[in-house]
Amino acid sequence: MEIKVVQDDVTRIKVPALIVNLFEGVEQPGGATGAVDRALDGAISQLIEDGEIKAKKGENTLIHTFGKIGPSRVLVAGLGKQENFTQETVREVTASSCRYLRRRGLEQVATIAHGAGIGGLDAGSVGQSMAEGVILGLYSFKNYLKGGEDDGGALKELLLVEQDSGKLGDLEKGLELGRLMAEVAIIARDMVNEPANVMTPTRMAEIASLVAEEEGLTIRVLERQHMEELGMGAFLGVAKGSDQPPKLIILEHHGDPGNPSNNIGFIGKGITFDTGGISLKPAGGMEDMKGDMAGGASVIGAMKAIGRLKPRINVTGMVAATENMPGGSAQRPGDIVRSMNGKTIEVINTDAEGRLVLADAMHYARETGVTRLVDIATLTGAMVVALGNACSGVMGNNQELIDQLIRAGQSAGERIWQMPMYDDYKDLIKSNVADIKNTGGRPAGSITAAKFLAEFAEDTPWAHMDIAGTYFSSAEKGYLSKGGTGVPTRTLVNLALELAEDR
Ligand code: BES
Ligand code: MN
Ligand code: ZN
Repeated sequence: MEIKVVQDDVTRIKVPALIVNLFEGVEQPGGATGAVDRALDGAISQLIEDGEIKAKKGENTLIHTFGKIGPSRVLVAGLGKQENFTQETVREVTASSCRYLRRRGLEQVATIAHGAGIGGLDAGSVGQSMAEGVILGLYSFKNYLKGGEDDGGALKELLLVEQDSGKLGDLEKGLELGRLMAEVAIIARDMVNEPANVMTPTRMAEIASLVAEEEGLTIRVLERQHMEELGMGAFLGVAKGSDQPPKLIILEHHGDPGNPSNNIGFIGKGITFDTGGISLKPAGGMEDMKGDMAGGASVIGAMKAIGRLKPRINVTGMVAATENMPGGSAQRPGDIVRSMNGKTIEVINTDAEGRLVLADAMHYARETGVTRLVDIATLTGAMVVALGNACSGVMGNNQELIDQLIRAGQSAGERIWQMPMYDDYKDLIKSNVADIKNTGGRPAGSITAAKFLAEFAEDTPWAHMDIAGTYFSSAEKGYLSKGGTGVPTRTLVNLALELAEDR
């Protein structure tokens, strides 16, 4: 898909279709939409008057122009209410309008820049959001379908038409960043969508190596033996049931080598399939557990963008990759394992495996000099019960870092909601036979999981993101397609960029 900025007049440009826009409640369109309306002798305002166009967000109205103006068709895309208009609206509207025209088989489409006029957004963020919206919105996972395009044709080119020469440079810069953000979110989506017989820990390490090579990151992959020597008993306990070798994947961006303490570590859960282990999950829906490496996938995607953008901060991306299988050597409920930080863990439920692999990865990150930690994990079903798929949850031990993460999510359109971490919750994971146990029962399941992880963050500023409700979408919605969402890849990139700026 090509996206280009062109300086032209929207009423004259010769294209199969032009996308214009409208806020809800506007009767006389202004700006570029107004110019098109006038050139069409008031066709758009007439449709508004007739109640045919309401301009609700995501509403698309197609008008044929029969040679009256340059574009053969005009699509009026509803922006919804002006007071709710954000960059996220731009992503969603770009996705839905481009999908609409792709379904009609159009290969080339022109569009105005949504929101750079009365919407009040700067040209750079409009360009970025439009690139993200169209690329992510038109994405679908087709690696195993013959024939490829199953959605009625390919949209090959999107022209972003702007008359004001003062905006062209910023629009182009925004597009460039948006293309990268979409590309790396798609890396994460693809990894989630690939089946677990393909997306093994070994395959994840291969993809990370490719990313490292392309973007000049350093990479290390720790094998089982090395992890044994380091004493990663919690991680390796999970790996015992699988024939797939576990991998601890470590990508590094050295953006501020003179200041080693200016750093952040992103630690992703990389369970390439979660059967539950001996505490086996029920069969219904188990196939979705091929995406239990979504946190790790988002880390690899984000590291690609960080390697490209080179912010002045040192970033470590770590993925604790293994399967959770019920093999003959699998760990059992009641087993006690010793984590790398010395704490013993009673494994009550082998299906609470994510926190076990993260515990050792987080401790290892601290040992190797990481001074701020963000972990990302499809950690608990309880998170889905609490928040559904509208937002991810965040918990942690450092309000500043949590707030920075929430803000980074806001500009990415990836919502994050904080849950409490009262001391009371820690009582639920006390064990009679070990320092701690890996489950706290039904109540506050997401928080007790976070309380478990807190034992391994210790005094390092840390935020934990539970993406169990957001890593996957069962419907096409906004710029999400069915399957992996890529959440929170773009949030992590934003966070690294913002921390580098804040210094
Ligand atoms: N990967 C699952 C959590 C999950 C569930 C992610 C649904 C996405 C969608 C995790 O490893 C798990 O199994 N958690 C258990 C923990 C319990 C045994 C304490 C859960 O949530 O049931
Ligand atoms: Mn599990
Ligand atoms: Zn899991």
